[in-house]
Amino acid sequence: MTSIFKINGLVVITGAAGLLGEQHAKAVLEHGGSVALIDINKQKLQALKNKLIDYKNENINIFECDITDKNQVENVLKTINEGKNNIVGLINNAAINPIVSQSLNDSNELENFNLDNWDLELNVGVKGALICTMIFGSNMAKNKYGSIINISSDLGLIAPDHRIYNNKKSISKNYKPVTYSVIKHALVGLTKYTATYWHEHGIRCNTLHPGGIRDDQNSDFLSKVSELIPLGRMANKEEYRGAVVFLLSDASSYMTGSSMVIDGGRTIW
Ligand SMILES: NC(=O)c1ccc[n+]([C@@H]2O[C@H](COP(=O)([O-])OP(=O)(O)OC[C@H]3O[C@@H](n4cnc5c(N)ncnc54)[C@H](O)[C@@H]3O)[C@@H](O)[C@H]2O)c1
Repeated sequence: MTSIFKINGLVVITGAAGLLGEQHAKAVLEHGGSVALIDINKQKLQALKNKLIDYKNENINIFECDITDKNQVENVLKTINEGKNNIVGLINNAAINPIVSQSLNDSNELENFNLDNWDLELNVGVKGALICTMIFGSNMAKNKYGSIINISSDLGLIAPDHRIYNNKKSISKNYKPVTYSVIKHALVGLTKYTATYWHEHGIRCNTLHPGGIRDDQNSDFLSKVSELIPLGRMANKEEYRGAVVFLLSDASSYMTGSSMVIDGGRTIW
């Protein structure tokens, strides 16, 4: 019996060497697909490949590539095509994830926002997603089949609550950078545009809005953020795998241009 959750081909994952990239890769590999793992960080990519030892080596392709450089992304497509791999999915996941710092020089005040950071972060988060959509999306459109997931955030739906980034000991007031909000909202627009643009070419495109993932945050932050979330905690990194499989596979065949929100309920409060 064929499962509606089966992934029948290769899925390109950008920013694959990061915290969530590994989870996306495992989700695909465990449901019959193969992966092209793209990241700018070669060492972390190699380390990820070593970690995926339990999966078939031939199903895991790694590519050191800067997604803001169209030529580099085209070269990845060329190599994938030479290997006669059929691309059926793209996860636009790469980002420069800003750590909200306690440093006086980098508090992300809107009045003094560093415009070099604006260029850098939007280049990866928005332009990089566009370039990958153009290149891998066109390839899938030619084959009349494919699913694209743009990874946004709960902060692609609501504004950050800056109060959780500060405590009594903070030497300056810290803010989640404006770039994060702008990029994560922009991806919703890219999703809707892509979904309608290729609607006659078998391409579906949806946005996934994950809530914050428990990593190495301090206890003060953890207790403040948990109060904003009806389920009372941040996500475990594995908790988005089901959504990724659903959105990539035919299980979501009637879903396009839409948003899937997995945030412990944060955006309903
Ligand atoms: N971690 C969270 O709590 C969280 C919550 C909501 C949404 N998200 C979103 O999920 C996605 C993945 O998050 P993460 O926590 O795994 O981030 P991460 O920082 O761990 O990984 C991001 C990866 O992108 C890569 N990257 C950066 N610039 C690149 C470029 N020019 N070309 C290719 N690769 C590049 C980095 O090297 C890194 O490996 C991001 O879009 C993030 O905004 C994360």
